Amino acid sequence: MRIALFDSGYGGLTVLSHARRVLPSEEFIFYADRDHVPYGTKSVPAVRGFVRTAFRFLIEQQRADAVVVACNTATSVAVDEMRRLYDVPIIGMEPAVKKALTRDADHRVLVTATPITVHGEKLKRLISSCDPNGLVDLLALPQLVEFAERQEFVSSAVEAYLRDAFAPYRFADYSAIVLGCTHFNYFKDTMRQLLPQNVRLVDGNEGTVEELARRTGLRTQPIGAQTAHCTFFESGRPVVRAEELAHMEADLARAARMEEIV
Ligand code: DGL
Repeated sequence: MRIALFDSGYGGLTVLSHARRVLPSEEFIFYADRDHVPYGTKSVPAVRGFVRTAFRFLIEQQRADAVVVACNTATSVAVDEMRRLYDVPIIGMEPAVKKALTRDADHRVLVTATPITVHGEKLKRLISSCDPNGLVDLLALPQLVEFAERQEFVSSAVEAYLRDAFAPYRFADYSAIVLGCTHFNYFKDTMRQLLPQNVRLVDGNEGTVEELARRTGLRTQPIGAQTAHCTFFESGRPVVRAEELAHMEADLARAARMEEIV
């Protein structure tokens, strides 16, 4: 099966990293819309336009059998329209609020995401469906997307940004931080250092890939040595230069390491 994963940039590689190891026999296409990243600080109509262009490319030109929108921001504002337009399975991503509250319904949960996701109706609806006791707080961390796109994953600037953003919260009251943007997974090591052990780092990557398997009738495998083949595109252009491919592979390797951190 030909499966497309789509993100504004390199954040979606953290989903691909998991997907290509648990579905090693499938054919993947990864589309990073690097001409337009970041999405999360742009206008909603602009992001909808970018997503339409990406879907036209992935479904009409690349003939993808299924599309994973490995981007919470694009899911928030554009997935419903894409599902109306196209017949193939379209798997979106929403911050894993339910997962966090299911694990601990007594403590607070801090949901981090981009500004579009944080202010979007979709997240408001999700929270009102699963948080009757008002335990969820929201925090936008747009700068992490910029850091990730330039592969600045561990630095004093990243640490200072996160330290500052986390400063207002009394983390003894929290059980989890939800990583509601795929780019944020690259920063789990720094977050782990800054947060007390009672705060777990919760993301939706594994759940999204399970949903992909369920919707397409595929069976996920235990992680082994084999990884699925993937062709990479940046805003519709094939990625062929060795240094660009090496950049993707380095991000994928980091994503696999970050997956171990909870
Ligand atoms: N990686 C995306 C997400 O999951 C969006 C990042 C951005 O382009 O702002 O929300």
